[in-house]
Amino acid sequence: MELHLDLRHALGTTLRARLENALRDGIRTGLLAPGTRLPTSRALCAQLGVSRGVVVDAYAQLTAEGYLSARQGAGTTVATKGGWRPPAPVRAAVQPAVRHDLSPFVPALAAFPRGAWRAALNRALRTAPDDRLGLPDSTGMPELRQALAGYLARSRGVRTAPDQIVVCNGLRQGLGLLWSALSADGTQRIAVEDPGWGGMAQTAVDAGLDVVPVPVDRHGLVVEQLAALDDVGAVAVAPAHQYPTGAVMSPARRAALVAWAHDHDALIVEDDYDAEYRYDREPIGAIQGLAPQHIAYGGSASKSLAPGLRLAWLVVPPQYVASMTALQRRRGGMPAALEQLALADLIERGELDRHLRRQRRRYRRQRDALLLALSEHLPSVEVEGEAAGLFVVLRLPAEVSEPQVLEYARAVGLALDGVGAAEPAIVVGYANLAEAAIGSAVDALAASVRAAATPD
Ligand SMILES: Cc1ncc(COP(=O)(O)O)c(C=O)c1O
Repeated sequence: MELHLDLRHALGTTLRARLENALRDGIRTGLLAPGTRLPTSRALCAQLGVSRGVVVDAYAQLTAEGYLSARQGAGTTVATKGGWRPPAPVRAAVQPAVRHDLSPFVPALAAFPRGAWRAALNRALRTAPDDRLGLPDSTGMPELRQALAGYLARSRGVRTAPDQIVVCNGLRQGLGLLWSALSADGTQRIAVEDPGWGGMAQTAVDAGLDVVPVPVDRHGLVVEQLAALDDVGAVAVAPAHQYPTGAVMSPARRAALVAWAHDHDALIVEDDYDAEYRYDREPIGAIQGLAPQHIAYGGSASKSLAPGLRLAWLVVPPQYVASMTALQRRRGGMPAALEQLALADLIERGELDRHLRRQRRRYRRQRDALLLALSEHLPSVEVEGEAAGLFVVLRLPAEVSEPQVLEYARAVGLALDGVGAAEPAIVVGYANLAEAAIGSAVDALAASVRAAATPD
């Protein structure tokens, strides 16, 4: 068990510190892989020419830190479970700089209402009594819950009292609380849309739940297939504008979904992540309004304002509030008090509505420019999901490989995603893109599609 350790170049003023640092570095950089057996203290002290106590102490320290594990009979090995793990190797390929952001997840960051936000923050700072600067209520600041209850009722038809709203640090974080509360309540399996937003399944798996995919077609989740499953305690859907297909759930499916939840005493988790944006169709209310006792409704400021705010909310049936907020307190995940007060102020003064009216006009223009450019550069590609949200879906011809298009497009500096389903399709976001750049972005995208369609 030869171990190459260079104590001369290791950091530390004592031999023991240098030995500890050399071992830590070896583990962190992956040179000493998990499970690697280290020499005995007797062998290593002889090899390094140090006293045995130095090696014994260094091994004990790194074992306490979780880098090493020491078991009777097995000697000392680099820890495999818990403790520290080497990071995944860095991919060698250098990602080119993003020239055009076609990501479906980002609104127009340059249009963030900085002035209105600064004024709202200033007002919160000026007017909040000192005690509002203590640890925020783990359900959310009462001012924000009050403002959200009114805003969601009038803009989305959500029926809720302020005390059923849990304010969270982004919807992703809030979903983690909800899944843990369901799991503590005995739920083992939940269903998600396939294809769907990866964060939904990931947060559920992280909370220890089994996840069953249910297909999505042009009318949204195929509820018949959900009904055929056993033991599913909840289903997550994005009925207003499904990610990544852009499908809007049909009225018949909405009714069938609510009936399923009633019949199975199950929970529908409604992801209303970008419902503020709709262009050529009548606004469709949240399904939460149809059956508040069976629906946990999630919304977020990530698309209406900016993802960097990390402000979101879940409206949940009353029985989940206590366990979610107890968990929130334990995890310390509450969003910052002043920012919550600022958002409440922005809503109450009508500034959020004003901002959204401006953004809808902007995004409609950008979407129209995108559709025009697509009809010129990619006339044979079918476009879907353009009536709402911040992205469209391009259905590629069957012979075009989706991963190949993404690879070519990313290589020329386009940031974008694929649908990842059986039929090739890509998702093109148009919000965080200057209108003047849409033509050249689509030109580059069309070249990537053509390159992927050409046999090598
Ligand atoms: C479909 C969908 N749902 C939910 C979220 C979560 O939003 P956040 O955690 O930023 O509030 C996102 C984020 O991009 C999303 O795309």
